[in-house]
Amino acid sequence: MGKGLIIYQSKYGTAKKYAMWLAEATGFDVVETPKADSRALKEYDRIILCGSIYASGIAGISFLRKNRQALIGKKTAVFCVGASPYDEKALEEVKAHNLKEDLREIPMFYGRGAWDESAMSFKDRTLCKMLQKAVAKKDPSTYEPWMTALMCAVGQKCDWTDKKYLEPVIQYMNE
Ligand SMILES: Cc1cc2nc3c(=O)[nH]c(=O)nc-3n(C[C@H](O)[C@H](O)[C@H](O)COP(=O)(O)O)c2cc1C
Repeated sequence: MGKGLIIYQSKYGTAKKYAMWLAEATGFDVVETPKADSRALKEYDRIILCGSIYASGIAGISFLRKNRQALIGKKTAVFCVGASPYDEKALEEVKAHNLKEDLREIPMFYGRGAWDESAMSFKDRTLCKMLQKAVAKKDPSTYEPWMTALMCAVGQKCDWTDKKYLEPVIQYMNE
C-alpha cells in the first residue's frame, strides 16, 4: 500500500472512531478536516475521506471539492457514516447528491454509525424530532429504510459501529 491520508469530519465521534480504525488497519496518517492542509496532499498517493451523513450531506466533502485538482492521479475513496441500515438505492442518492462532476468517479463506502439524542446539540435534536414527527404521519408500509431506522431509534441510544464495515474500503485501497 502507498502512503495514505485519512481525512475525517465527525460531530459526535463515530466517523472519528472509523477513521482511527482505518488508520490502525492501513498505517495511513489521519487528520481532521479543519486541520487538513491542502499542500500536504502532495505527499500522499492514497486519500480516504471519512465523514458522517447529516440530512443527506457528507461532512467534509467540501474539502474534496476544494482540492479536486490535487486529487488527480491519487487513489481516493469516501467512507461515509450514517444511522440508516445499508440500502443500495438510498446510498446511490447520497452519492449523486455529494459526489458530482469531477468527484463522480470516486467510490463511496458506507458504515453504520450511532444514534444518541441525549448527546445531540439542541439544534440537531430539534431537527431529528421534527423529522420523526413528519415520518410518524406516514403509513409504515411506505417507509424508506432511513425512515424505519429513524423511527426505531426514537428515544433510544444505539451504536451500530463495527470494523466489518471497513473491509471493502481497505480492500479497495490494497488493490
Ligand atoms: C441532524 C442529523 C441529521 C442526520 N441525517 C442523517 C441522514 O440523512 N442519513 C443517515 O443515515 N443518518 C443521518 N444522521 C445520523 C448520523 O449520520 C449518525 O448518527 C452518525 O453516526 C453521526 O456521526 P458522528 O458521530 O461522526 O457525528 C443524522 C444525524 C443528525 C444529528
